[in-house]
Amino acid sequence: MTVQPPTHALRGPALTYTGDPFAEGLEATMVYESDAIVAMGGGRITHFGPYEKVRPLLPPDLPIRNCGRDALISAGFLDTHVHFPQAAVIASFGTQLLDWLETYTFPAEGKFADKDHAHAAAKIFLRESLRNGITTSCVYGTVFPQSVDALFEEAERLGMRMAAGKVMMDRNAPSFLLDTAQSSYDDSKALIKRWHGRGRLMYAITPRFAPTSTDEQLAAAGALWREHPDCYMQTHVSENLDEIEWVRDLFPARKNYTDVYAHAGLCRPRAIFGHGVHLNEDEMGCMHGAGSAIAHCPTSNAFIGSGAFNIARAKRADRPLRVGLGTDIGGGTSFSIMTTLGEAYKAAMVHKHRLSAGHALYLATRGSAQAMYLEDKVGSVAPGMEADIVVLDMKSTPLIAYRMDLAKDIHEALFIQMTLGDDRAVQATYVAGVLQYEKA
Ligand code: GUN
Ligand code: ZN
Repeated sequence: MTVQPPTHALRGPALTYTGDPFAEGLEATMVYESDAIVAMGGGRITHFGPYEKVRPLLPPDLPIRNCGRDALISAGFLDTHVHFPQAAVIASFGTQLLDWLETYTFPAEGKFADKDHAHAAAKIFLRESLRNGITTSCVYGTVFPQSVDALFEEAERLGMRMAAGKVMMDRNAPSFLLDTAQSSYDDSKALIKRWHGRGRLMYAITPRFAPTSTDEQLAAAGALWREHPDCYMQTHVSENLDEIEWVRDLFPARKNYTDVYAHAGLCRPRAIFGHGVHLNEDEMGCMHGAGSAIAHCPTSNAFIGSGAFNIARAKRADRPLRVGLGTDIGGGTSFSIMTTLGEAYKAAMVHKHRLSAGHALYLATRGSAQAMYLEDKVGSVAPGMEADIVVLDMKSTPLIAYRMDLAKDIHEALFIQMTLGDDRAVQATYVAGVLQYEKA
């Protein structure tokens, strides 16, 4: 890697992580600089540190944006579980998972056979992600390969680091959404060839969840992944109690839900399992041993009544899981990472655990990068990292400004943001060093 000289920089308070606070504690891993400089060039961060120390190392005429004392510079957020076609079904009333899929989601996904429809939705999805400081996502398309092409085309135009895949689904869904084991293998393979490793784009093999795939299709997904092991694999696991019972009926030979995937060769590093609300100890041990990740989707788990994910249990020191944060749009109700972290706090509270703001912001940045095995590329602010940056406005509403004046330290200030903040807390979003969103 040739290091390019800096072309511009940001100045302001900054937050990042050098490790996992769940494992090593906040003191050892959280870095807060009250007056920092972040310099960028060639799509990467070239310098980071206290202003007084780093400024002399930079060219005197370097353009520096002063973000102000009420800002906070952070690595761009990651969303490790999201369905781009489902922006159209956010806020759909009155159903839990299986009815919600039938009533709202499958009909909406049917419209994505039309590439123009998919393109328009991809634009809205990515614009909304950037408005919320999300610079990398792991995205479900629909069963139609052209829907994934549409998303990748738009993500490429914006220079975003993005993983996505075509949903594989060969049973238990409306006929207009079904593929076959063979066609899903062929279509996914063609998408991998076209997109995986092109610029910052990455492919995620995407069997929707066990109930909508036959054994044959899950085996095809496993075979495809063995042929392309540096791709991701994403699916759902143990989200809802009726779903879990259905999986037990459909796969009587398997010991539990996770075992259905393990049997197909789908529990490995770079597997991202959505939800995992009701995993048992055996399954958590399996995920830990496999190096697979859970995407914690708190607004969705609350909205469609799935339950409350126990983050403290998932991070238990003797078998810690990789855990990322997911908006799970459209089971989830917000693109805002602040709102999502606020809900993660409430989910932890259900289990009598106090999720600190420092730990929460880690989940949204380096923790999600670690879940995706991307912590050497994105998720923290350090020289050599890709320059995906969010600048937060820590006084984005009158109430937040009022409350912030009483905050005694950065921990309290961050907790105020995640409890009260939303899209208005995002001042600017940079992708590979390029300003791609700025609040009016
Ligand atoms: N399980 C299978 N498909 C889906 C989906 O689209 N959303 C959620 N939340 N769970 C699922
Ligand atoms: Zn989902």
